[in-house]
Amino acid sequence: MKKNLYIGVDLGTSAVKLLLVDGEGTIRNSLSKEYPLSFPHPGWSEQEPADWWTACTEGIRELLRGEDASLVAGIGCGGQMHGLVALDGEDRVIRPAILWNDGRTAEEVTYLNEQIGKDKLSAYTANIAFAGFTAPKILWMKKNEPENFSRIAKIMLPKDYINYMLTGVHSCDYSDASGMLLLDVAHKAWSEEMLKICDVRKDQLPTLFESYDVIGTVKPEIAKALGIPEAVKVIAGAGDNAAAAIGTGTVGDGDCNISLGTSGTIFISSDQFGVDNFNALHSFAHANGKYHLMGCMLSAASCNKWLCDEILQTKDYAGEQKGITDDKLGRNNVFFLPYLMGERSPINDTDARGTFTGLTMDATRENLVQAVLEGVSFAIRDSFEVAKALGIHIEKSKLCGGGAKSPLWRKIMANVLNIPLEIPQAEEGPGYGGAMLAMVGCGEYDSVRACADALVKTAKVIAPDAELAARYEAQYRKFQKIYPAMKALFPEIK
Ligand code: XUL
Repeated sequence: MKKNLYIGVDLGTSAVKLLLVDGEGTIRNSLSKEYPLSFPHPGWSEQEPADWWTACTEGIRELLRGEDASLVAGIGCGGQMHGLVALDGEDRVIRPAILWNDGRTAEEVTYLNEQIGKDKLSAYTANIAFAGFTAPKILWMKKNEPENFSRIAKIMLPKDYINYMLTGVHSCDYSDASGMLLLDVAHKAWSEEMLKICDVRKDQLPTLFESYDVIGTVKPEIAKALGIPEAVKVIAGAGDNAAAAIGTGTVGDGDCNISLGTSGTIFISSDQFGVDNFNALHSFAHANGKYHLMGCMLSAASCNKWLCDEILQTKDYAGEQKGITDDKLGRNNVFFLPYLMGERSPINDTDARGTFTGLTMDATRENLVQAVLEGVSFAIRDSFEVAKALGIHIEKSKLCGGGAKSPLWRKIMANVLNIPLEIPQAEEGPGYGGAMLAMVGCGEYDSVRACADALVKTAKVIAPDAELAARYEAQYRKFQKIYPAMKALFPEIK
């Protein structure tokens, strides 16, 4: 019997990554298509939804070349979270999307957290305001672009724009909707109070679904253009972190996944709804119908990309790491604060900036590369510490994302956290998770859990080494002192 095929889409910040997967989880083909990212002002970050759509449609056509496209049964998308996409009454995109790592809303965040108050926000949504979340962006648009604001007919998140273009259905899943600060996460419904605060009407917002629910089928003209059957089902999909968690099998109570992508996240799956009383970790819905806590740093693998591409002018990331031998680990006097786009978890500071410190005349290029890999790992440890303080015991974690491809970075991360890290066979977490959700939506598996049990395999485990972990413990103690020492300076030098 011929096997159904599924398309998994990871609508990322630097590129869309597409996977063609069969019902047994074998990846038949994969490709990625980049699109531009613009920083129109320091700390701002925007993209054109039309670029996402072009990359997706061209990519899907290429992905299916040489394959029997009539076997495609479903499409599932995991996407960059929080981005504000606004459409007018004629479905035209009103302005470029304001992305998850955009820091322009400091004023709106202060208004929400200080004037409305963190307690109220937390009661309404289970979260407080962070600059990248969607609600502060809506308030920013209202104040700074009133003309644009008055034209808004539909508000959507990045992956939901793709789903809308595919099906004509204005949808959102609970995991992604959680990051808008408009959803009452505990009750999985739009918060009336937040809608009032943001001057948003329910009819401007998408219909809510579980991530594995089918939202509709592909529009006939789109099916024709992509060369796929009209019966292809599109599922609601998930925010990229929830999708990555599905893709790495992070679906059990207390399971943990760390993603080293453009952003860096630590994602703790939970069967029960819960809130971080320190308001450092986000309390969101999971794509398996349950919940999770998550810490998100805004620049992770992107710090290494920045150092290599922009400063060292090389694309040979592995080459830059070659000379960083085991004896050098945990012994670097150069430290790096990875706050190139400000920072979200756990410090919530849009003014924070990237910083090298500890430089001496004999500091080498390698020291800087190492400091960047370590700085990102220490910053993930900051959120790991918050989870610990909440009484969450993380014994081990999965690791995925572009940065996880580096054996050196894996080793540093395992020792900075002092836990074993499991590297899944399918490294492309969000796209694989998107395809898995599509399989569940199309009835190939009865549940997300059953799908994960059947398909997710661990390729490798990176165990920490007691001596190295001790060295990193001492280094982390030093790292922890750098941001507090610099904090007051950042607003002055931005
Ligand atoms: C999560 C977050 C990022 C983006 C990256 O809260 O903002 O991880 O989803 O795509």
